[in-house]
Amino acid sequence: MNLKLIKGMRLVLATHNPGKVPEIEALLGGHYSVVTAGSLNLPEPDETESTFVGNALLKARHAADLSGEVAIADDSGLSIAALDGAPGIFSARWAGPDKDFAFAMKKVEQRLEEIGAQDRSAWFTSALAVAWPNGPAVVVEGRVDGTLTFPPRGTRGFGYDPIFIPEGHTQTFGELDPAFKDSISHRARAFEKLRDALIE
Ligand code: IMP
Repeated sequence: MNLKLIKGMRLVLATHNPGKVPEIEALLGGHYSVVTAGSLNLPEPDETESTFVGNALLKARHAADLSGEVAIADDSGLSIAALDGAPGIFSARWAGPDKDFAFAMKKVEQRLEEIGAQDRSAWFTSALAVAWPNGPAVVVEGRVDGTLTFPPRGTRGFGYDPIFIPEGHTQTFGELDPAFKDSISHRARAFEKLRDALIE
């Protein structure tokens, strides 16, 4: 079997968030048309795995098998060394049902204070999986290392960006130019690996 993505083919993105489509299309170089699993009325699976890679694979396999088309899925989050990798795969869930990241960032700060942690090292991870219907799958992972700072700084970006300073820089992802962030981010690194592995 030829495990390559043929330019012009359609990919099912394993999400119900249509906002993710333009970003994924752009990261794939504009060579593919992307439809969401939500627009095909596919149900969302429970993310029952304990790793980013496991959850990305689970979501891609589920969407591919149900749709009969090649599917792509991502799973990402922030891991903090002093918290044994938390929030990790629970990064979105720490923000609660209202997706309140000011609250999630406060929670991170409080947890670090509670245990008196001095170590502020952290990293973002992005796992990307592509699965063929009832067939094989490929998964890659990208990571960017950095340190945390409190209080949050900057209004650009999203999620945990305002508390994360990437290695070698002094500004947070919430302050840095988004185009620059996109060039060094965990997601960019994962897509680079995916392109090397799957695009002819
Ligand atoms: P997912 O969409 O279920 O993979 O959840 C990923 C969560 O991780 C998001 O809701 C964000 O909180 C966090 N996250 C992932 N990537 C980034 C990033 O680049 N900046 C800030 N937060 C991120």
